[in-house]
Amino acid sequence: MTTFNHLNVVAQEALQLPDAERIAKIRSDRWIGYPRSKQVLAKLEDLLIYPRTQRMPNLLLVGDTNNGKTMLAQRFCKLHPADDNPSGDGIQVPVLMVQAPPVPDEGRFYNAILELLFAPYRASERVDKKQFQVIKLLRYIDLKVLIIDEIHHILAGNMNRQKAFLNVIKYLGNELQISIVGVGTKDAFRAMQTDPQLSNRFEPVTLPRWEMDHDFLRLLASFERMIPLKNTSGLTQQDLASMLYSMSEGYIGELSRLLSSASVAAIHSSDEKISLSLLKSVDWTPPSKRKRLLEGTR
Ligand SMILES: Nc1ncnc2c1ncn2[C@@H]1O[C@H](COP(=O)(O)OP(=O)(O)OP(=O)(O)O)[C@@H](O)[C@H]1O
Ligand SMILES: [Mg+2]
Repeated sequence: MTTFNHLNVVAQEALQLPDAERIAKIRSDRWIGYPRSKQVLAKLEDLLIYPRTQRMPNLLLVGDTNNGKTMLAQRFCKLHPADDNPSGDGIQVPVLMVQAPPVPDEGRFYNAILELLFAPYRASERVDKKQFQVIKLLRYIDLKVLIIDEIHHILAGNMNRQKAFLNVIKYLGNELQISIVGVGTKDAFRAMQTDPQLSNRFEPVTLPRWEMDHDFLRLLASFERMIPLKNTSGLTQQDLASMLYSMSEGYIGELSRLLSSASVAAIHSSDEKISLSLLKSVDWTPPSKRKRLLEGTR
């Protein structure tokens, strides 16, 4: 019997699936813990156990696009799911993640929170009433950490609206004594700087682009163990690793997508492994070039 020791148990089992299902598995999201993610998760854990004080610590998770910020925040949420009825007193939700509306609109922000919690609300309700409802609800579920993804969207308005929205965040934090975690691009960091009181309450935590180093090789090794291909690719070999690094330009999202496409091609070709020649044959535009194309320049 052939053994597939280059794979972890889950991936070994996936080898039994028909190709179409195996491909669907390859294309779906998977979580890989890497050193920086563990550091950031530890910081988030810290917020959860922080005693409630007048001045709760907040974080601002900043990084380039497609580099794992949302996945990391989702991971934290998954580690701390809602607890249905711990002492008969209703549901407890320690962590909640909401997307900032595409514009700094307080009402829409509250709508998003109310929707997440399946709370009935009227979209036409006055903003102060919605705010009251949100505060009551978040207090009821005993929220500890509110994560606001895509927080850079608050930059989309003029300075006054930005300020108003930042005040909302400040108010929620103070009123509920919860920690707030903003997640976004560098624009988010700049937005926070417009309010010194807020900026010194939000500790910036970065999720930098990957370097071509030992950690990146370990990341490749993890992907290889999880992607159900029958043959060993040896992604950490220098030539393959360098090629993967330059094609993905150090973004984990790009790497993940590239490896998925290459793996699907490897299944179709019956090679069942990712080789240099296969990578060269994958239809791939590096992210920087894609961006330039989008911007209409060469
Ligand atoms: N820890 C991880 N393990 C495996 N794959 C990951 C991990 N983190 C991110 N990815 C991959 O990278 C993709 C992009 O990640 P994510 O959506 O978290 O990026 P982001 O930084 O939030 O981007 P954006 O700024 O565009 O919202 C994910 O869809 C997933 O395929
Ligand atoms: Mg994201």
